[in-house]
Amino acid sequence: MAGKVMHAVQYACYGGGAAGLKHVEVPIPTPGKDEVLLKLEATSLNPVDWKIQKGMLRPLLPRKFPCIPATDVAGVIQEVGSGIKNFKPGDQVVAVLSHLTGGGLAEYAVAKKSLTVPRPPEVSAAEGAGLPIAGLTAHLALTQFSGVKLDGSGPRKNILITAASGGVGQYAVQLAKLGNTHVTATCGSRNIDFVKSLGADEVIDYKTPEGAALKSPSGQKYDAVVHCATAIPWSVFEPNLSETGKVIDITPGLSAMWTFAVKKLTLSKKQLVPLLVIPKREKLEYLVNLVKEGKLKTVIDSKHPLSRAEEAWAKSIDGHATGKIIVEP
Ligand SMILES: NC(=O)c1ccc[n+]([C@@H]2O[C@H](COP(=O)([O-])OP(=O)(O)OC[C@H]3O[C@@H](n4cnc5c(N)ncnc54)[C@H](OP(=O)(O)O)[C@@H]3O)[C@@H](O)[C@H]2O)c1
Repeated sequence: MAGKVMHAVQYACYGGGAAGLKHVEVPIPTPGKDEVLLKLEATSLNPVDWKIQKGMLRPLLPRKFPCIPATDVAGVIQEVGSGIKNFKPGDQVVAVLSHLTGGGLAEYAVAKKSLTVPRPPEVSAAEGAGLPIAGLTAHLALTQFSGVKLDGSGPRKNILITAASGGVGQYAVQLAKLGNTHVTATCGSRNIDFVKSLGADEVIDYKTPEGAALKSPSGQKYDAVVHCATAIPWSVFEPNLSETGKVIDITPGLSAMWTFAVKKLTLSKKQLVPLLVIPKREKLEYLVNLVKEGKLKTVIDSKHPLSRAEEAWAKSIDGHATGKIIVEP
C-alpha cells in the first residue's frame, strides 16, 4: 500500500470538539516488524477520545498534532510486518490502537500484534470494535477489583453499577450476571427496561431521590460499586456499602483521589479504588469469545459513516449514548 492515500479524520490542536475535526487525505500507514495493517470496518468511540482532544488528559496522554483519534477497531488484515507469524492478510481481527497515537478514525490503521485478536465470523465488526476499552474496563473492575468470578463460582456479591446504560456500564451488567451476583444498576428512566433486559436484578432512575441516594429498593448493601457515572461524592456511597465494600471509580477526580488516599492511610475497611484500564490481549480475546458464544453482546447506540464522524463525536461528548457509538468507513 506504500504511496497510496486514505481518507481520515484529524484534529490539529487541543479543544474544538466536533467542529475541530477535519476530513483529510493522508498516506496509508506502513506496518512495522510486529504490526499489522488493517482495512478498518468499524471503530468505536470512548469518552477518553474527546477528553484527549479537550486537553483534559494532557500530562498522561500528550498529543502530537495533527492527530487521528480513536483506538478501538475491527478490520481485515491487509499486510503483516516481518515479525508476524500468527496473522495473515484476509484475517478479520479486533485491535486496540495506542492511546498515544490513536488512528481509528480512518480507512486504514496499523495495530500492534500484541493488542490484536482474531474476530470469529459470529462477531460482527461493530460488536468487536465496541469491546476493547469499555469491555476491558468492565471486566477488570469486576474480576480484579470486585472479586467476581465470571464462571459463576465464588461467594455471592452485591454489585452496584452506575451509568449502566453507557458503553462501560452495559458490559459491566452483562459480565456481572455471568458471576454469582445480585446487580443493582442506575440509569435514566428511558433506559430502565433496557438495563433490566441486560440482566440487572434491580434498576433505579438516577434522577429520582432514591436513585440519587443509590439506595437499592430491596435494601442491599453493596460489596462493590462499578462506578461508571461521575461526580457522586463518597458520602453518598458510604452508607450503601457493606462492611468491606469498595467503590471502583473509573473516572476518579481530585476528590476521589483524596478519598482513596485517606481510606488507605486510615486502613478503612471501606475503600475507593481508582481504575485505569491497561488493555491486555488475552482478556480481549476472552471477551470476543464471550460474544461469539452468545454470553455477551455489544449494545450499539448508533452507527455513523466516517464521512460524518463529527456527528458520532458530538454524540459521545453529549454523554447520553445507550451502549456504544460506532463509526464505519
Ligand atoms: N478508567 C478507565 O480506564 C476508563 C475506561 C473507560 C471509560 N472510562 C470513563 O468512564 C466513564 C463512562 O464511560 P462510558 O463509555 O460508559 O460513557 P458513556 O457511554 O458516554 O455514558 C453515557 C451513559 O451514562 C449515563 N449516565 C450519565 N450520568 C449518569 C448518572 N449520574 N447516573 C446514571 N447514568 C448516567 C447516560 O444516561 P442518560 O442519557 O440517561 O443521562 C448514558 O446512557 C467516562 O467518564 C469515561 O471517560 C474510564
